Amino acid sequence: MAGGGISVQGGGRNYEGGVTVFVVFACVAAATGGLLFGYDIGISGGVTSMESFLSKFFPSVYHKMKNETADQNQYCKFDSQLLTLFTSSLYIAALVASFFASSVTRRFGRKISMLVAGLVFFIGSILNGIAINIIILIISRLLLGVGVGFANQSVPVYLAEMAPTKIRGALNMGFQMAITIGILVAGLVNFGTAKIKGGYGWRISLALAAIPSLIMTVSAIFLPDTPNSMVERGHPEKARKMLQKIRGTDNVNDEFQDLVDATEAAHKVENQWGNIMQPRYRPQLIICVLIPFFQQLTGINVIMFYAPVLFKTLGFGDEASLMSAVITGGVNVVCTVVSMVVVDKFGRKVLFLEGGLQMVLCQIAVGVMIALQFGLSGQGTFTKAEANWVLVFICGYVAAFAWSWGPLGWLVPSEICPLEIRSAGQAINVSVNMFFTFLIGQGFLTMLCHLKFGLFFFFAGWVTVMTIFVSFFLPETKNVPIEEMNRVWKAHWFWGKYIPDEAVIGHDKHDKAVV
Ligand code: BGC
Repeated sequence: MAGGGISVQGGGRNYEGGVTVFVVFACVAAATGGLLFGYDIGISGGVTSMESFLSKFFPSVYHKMKNETADQNQYCKFDSQLLTLFTSSLYIAALVASFFASSVTRRFGRKISMLVAGLVFFIGSILNGIAINIIILIISRLLLGVGVGFANQSVPVYLAEMAPTKIRGALNMGFQMAITIGILVAGLVNFGTAKIKGGYGWRISLALAAIPSLIMTVSAIFLPDTPNSMVERGHPEKARKMLQKIRGTDNVNDEFQDLVDATEAAHKVENQWGNIMQPRYRPQLIICVLIPFFQQLTGINVIMFYAPVLFKTLGFGDEASLMSAVITGGVNVVCTVVSMVVVDKFGRKVLFLEGGLQMVLCQIAVGVMIALQFGLSGQGTFTKAEANWVLVFICGYVAAFAWSWGPLGWLVPSEICPLEIRSAGQAINVSVNMFFTFLIGQGFLTMLCHLKFGLFFFFAGWVTVMTIFVSFFLPETKNVPIEEMNRVWKAHWFWGKYIPDEAVIGHDKHDKAVV
């Protein structure tokens, strides 16, 4: 580690250099990877509610819906496993792909993984749009999943490594920002294509996914790789030059030396998978599993996938349901911006805690309102005023998610791992996230049918658990250089015992480094 004249802030050192236009541009371009994921999250729900799509690929579901006049139980109106499989299958493909992506990202660089993501997603979206039978539809869903797996594995790592420490949170959240924009755009596209007469609106919705993937592909072609990855792959001189370019100063010795130290430690590791299982990485491993698990257990994708269906279930009309989905999508985007602005100032924990509390309160409010109106039988309707209140609480819930678990669910796992397990940690994060996205996507309509209004209390219970967990077990990582994160773990009341002294970069010179 490079020594003297270094100031410590928030547990980490300040390197020379600032925020350059170049690094901001590179991070914005890379973050477009989130568009792939977001567009897909937002598009499926609307497409699966289009009659022409249903009658072509899922005739039995179509007929069931058409004939469904007798069933008055609102909770169970849309329960269909086959249909939800269309939405959720993509996430299984993404889960598997993220493990391959982890090796590619480590061996060939972050840039190559992003390129693979863009290209595969592009092919998938074209096939999706021209699908003539269910086989092609499913193959294209799987290709999209591979694209999402590669993008979600590589982009957050890329952003965390490129960003200067001081604004790492904000730049990294560009990924979540792109996800939310993707969701919103998809909602608007569905709103438009649902009106197309002639039964091909769904084709346009699905094929338009080609646009975000083209943006991602072109970005990946022009983006440089991260200095961390260059050092990792044996090009230290190129890495130093890149670091000088992105930091806008020739004096990058301290940061560069930390990169080299981190890489040396990483190279001693033969197998990152075996490695991450060692006790010394227990804190990171547990957090990389729990954060995505908790993120999905907030229940957010109930809203993101099924907002129109949920609003219809609650008695909103067709147009009002689609519109409400667009409103929640807008709140999601705006509140992600709020998070970007404050995350490096107030830190991660305060957002997690406030967001958690707000989500619980809103979920309880929605649960109580549904319980009072629909009871156990599922029969009833909201008055207009009540429906508006439900929408207000759902927006309050989405807002809280959007400045807490949404962006932080991707930021925190990408910044807490040392280089030697960073790719593996991120792959675990993505795959756990995808697995639970799949489960919620697949299970929500059945859960609603059985748990009824209790579903909202179920998720509120989980949000309570995760908020308590964060307050005790998650260290604050704001303003800590990424290659010095072990210092934070070492100082933690619970996790400290797992971190050996020599894992803390420059531990022997630490006192000297503090001015
Ligand atoms: C989550 C997605 C979710 C989205 C909503 C992301 O962070 O991973 O599952 O749909 O946020 O904005």
